[in-house]
Amino acid sequence: MTKKFHTVRPIPNRQLPQLFIETYGCQMNIADSEVVVSVMQEAGFALCDHIEQADIIFVNTCSIRDNAEQRIWGRLNLFLQYKKKKPSLKVGVLGCMAERLKEELLSHNAVDLVVGPDSYRLLPKLIEAVTHTGKQIETHFNPEETYADISPVRIDPNGVSAFVSIMRGCNNLCAYCVVPFVRGRERSRNPKSIEHEVTDLVANGYREVTLIGQNVNSYLWSDPNNPTEHVNFAQLLEIIALIDPKLRVRFATSHPKDMSKGVLYTMAMYPNICHHIHLPAQSGSDHILKLMNRKYTREEYLLRTKAILQILPNCSISTDFIAGFCDETAEDHAQTLSLMQEVRFDQAFMFQYSERPNTKAANTYRDNVPEEIKTQRLNEIITLQNQLSLESNQRDVGKTFEVLVEGLSKRSDQHFFGRTPQNKVCVFPCGESQIGAYVDVLVESCTSATLIGCIAHKVQNATFLPHIRPFLHKPDK
Ligand code: SAH
Ligand code: SF4
Ligand code: F3S
Repeated sequence: MTKKFHTVRPIPNRQLPQLFIETYGCQMNIADSEVVVSVMQEAGFALCDHIEQADIIFVNTCSIRDNAEQRIWGRLNLFLQYKKKKPSLKVGVLGCMAERLKEELLSHNAVDLVVGPDSYRLLPKLIEAVTHTGKQIETHFNPEETYADISPVRIDPNGVSAFVSIMRGCNNLCAYCVVPFVRGRERSRNPKSIEHEVTDLVANGYREVTLIGQNVNSYLWSDPNNPTEHVNFAQLLEIIALIDPKLRVRFATSHPKDMSKGVLYTMAMYPNICHHIHLPAQSGSDHILKLMNRKYTREEYLLRTKAILQILPNCSISTDFIAGFCDETAEDHAQTLSLMQEVRFDQAFMFQYSERPNTKAANTYRDNVPEEIKTQRLNEIITLQNQLSLESNQRDVGKTFEVLVEGLSKRSDQHFFGRTPQNKVCVFPCGESQIGAYVDVLVESCTSATLIGCIAHKVQNATFLPHIRPFLHKPDK
């Protein structure tokens, strides 16, 4: 999952009250911010692209690790400075931290509004109440809420690739994880509304969707009018893949315990479902996996990866690891390194364990791996993964991949970037191509993070995508 900082694309209308939104955390939060923008636009607010123009600032927050929360407290202190300059400015804290910390956040001098992830429909009403009666808070869970009927306003400027939320919450209770406490119980969204959203994206020129949830493989929708009618994740994937053969379909995240062969066979059947699976391992040690309550063993994890590569030989596998979980010994850590060697992950997100209040780990285990050992182990994991990623990319040199052009490379106006089906970033000279086109790229060299190549053969250009800006016009800053 990306851990990036996003700001919204401007839709200038200076006559209306101006909203600025910042989003932290995972793709779920990006999708949620798009719902929030939709709700707010409907209520007569307009997005602005500069924080100084804002009448309202929303910050959509993440609680996954302590440093994610510290960053937000820093932002709130900064917003307080803005409020001194503009006393009418209102600040709302949304998302996972709002749900976890509630009144503690509301008592910060910068904060007018605290709203949890299931209450975004109430935002316009709450903003009005702030104006009339002061600070407001709404953090109740609504186990029915999937925002199925709300059309998210896409705030990413690329116009090519979009996240589509297919479920909310999580029932897994991994011992270290705050998500079930801040997102509530798992619920799946009506497949018809997902199909509608994706069809609409295709009609607007989008070429890629990523279906997102904390554990997409446990997606299961039951028709409330006919409880014998179910749609599982493999069936949903098929429904989405069939919308348009030129639409790339991705998904994240898969829990190893729920990764079924049915999903793999569906992936094998439809060429537009990208052959990449994000399968967080967290640890290579059975002792730690048990303490983490992950509900699979190292052996079972390895069997899953073998099944993936048997059914989808060119599939890439990425993962997440946590270094220094409670009671982790040097031998446990060595097991993680050896699992990495055995699977040869193509990519990984790697974290140092951060105790989260009220989780099972915080309540019943001791956070007893010293910080410097955690850091040392994390560094060893990162060093090994850099090597594995480099080797994985080197295996691609000399091969040709279909790449969906997503935008200009950060480093050069003369180069585009896009991703291969395996989710590897690829940079190549623009040539005659355009954003939104599929191009065949011959990989000539690589780093551990990027494939570098040239266009081998243009597959299909994007001339029928009139809404996409010509690539020479960068989105406004
Ligand atoms: N639902 C996804 C993960 C969501 S959080 C899944 O089950 O895989 C993304 C990643 O953050 C996790 O995979 C884990 O590696 C990491 N993470 C979660 N809680 C953490 C904690 N308390 N400390 C450090 N890393 C954590
Ligand atoms: Fe957290 Fe585990 Fe749920 Fe992922 S599956 S969100 S790690 S509790
Ligand atoms: Fe995502 Fe962070 Fe919440 S990872 S679900 S935004 S705690």
